[in-house]
Amino acid sequence: MNTEEILLKYKPDKENLIQILHEIQDLHPQQYLTETDLLKVAKYLNITRSFVYGVVGYYSMFSTTPRGKYIIRLCESPVCNMFNSKMIAEKLKEILKIDINQTTADGLFTLELSECLGLCGNKPSMMINRETYTELDENNIELIIKNLRNN
Ligand code: FES
Repeated sequence: MNTEEILLKYKPDKENLIQILHEIQDLHPQQYLTETDLLKVAKYLNITRSFVYGVVGYYSMFSTTPRGKYIIRLCESPVCNMFNSKMIAEKLKEILKIDINQTTADGLFTLELSECLGLCGNKPSMMINRETYTELDENNIELIIKNLRNN
């Protein structure tokens, strides 16, 4: 599947913008949206380039720069924050040897912070790509990262 094939799955209606952007981003091994893709989307939906960039900039799940194979999105909203998400962030930075919004040298992981993921009942929480991980602690995050590295 390529960008053109994804576009043709949808009616050229502005309402489909977010879904199209998700699909195109998922298609890219480095999980980001290229300038070329964004221009194709704008043209297909008959909307301005700046509108598309505005939407991409608004939603934190979209990126215009290359990212890792696994995008870690750790919740930093109040409930998770009260339950040690800051400590989890520090531990992830230590394990991955990167800072927030950086990608590991091997291109495997990008570490990002996120607003509430809707998983507050089992805080602290994070998502890695489309998988959810809850009740995080120092031990289980180490295991999660180890398992993905060995994948
Ligand atoms: S506050 Fe973290 S999932 Fe809701």
